[in-house]
Amino acid sequence: MPSTASPHRILFVCLGNICRSPAAEIIFRHVVKAEGREEDFKIDSAGTIDYHQGNPPDARMSATLKDKGYTIAGQSRIILTSDLDDFDLIVTMDECNLEEVQAMVSSDEQKTKIRPFVSFLQNMDAPRIPDPYHGGQKGFEEVIELLEDGCEGILKELPSSE
Ligand code: 4NP
Repeated sequence: MPSTASPHRILFVCLGNICRSPAAEIIFRHVVKAEGREEDFKIDSAGTIDYHQGNPPDARMSATLKDKGYTIAGQSRIILTSDLDDFDLIVTMDECNLEEVQAMVSSDEQKTKIRPFVSFLQNMDAPRIPDPYHGGQKGFEEVIELLEDGCEGILKELPSSE
């Protein structure tokens, strides 16, 4: 379970860290800012592969997010074993990411920090956040809808420091 201490340190994880997890980071930052809770959170994202290391978010994901009013930021990085200590909550996008991160744990405490993003969905239901990389525009829009729903759920689950 997420720590109740503040600030909450949250890491979003996908495969390449150029589509889903940076979008989750961008959307969650937006939601947190809108609620005036920036002091409550440290937010980052990472991938389980380093193929896109140093790259900005995917151009198709960035364009779709920009159209919806989000500000684009971030550079791809691979998840590190130290992230399992440095973050309180590690949120994975699909079953593969979940398995990859679970394979990195070295303690029960680390294991309890990992949760699938879909477990935070409020109004939508999905088995995973689907990988939009090899698909069309509709896939990016669907991912953003799911991420918006789940980011609200994360915020609700984590108490304010006040
Ligand atoms: P992401 O999407 O995991 O949401 O960032 C992908 C990015 C890159 C690749 C696959 C998925 N790739 O095969 O390079």
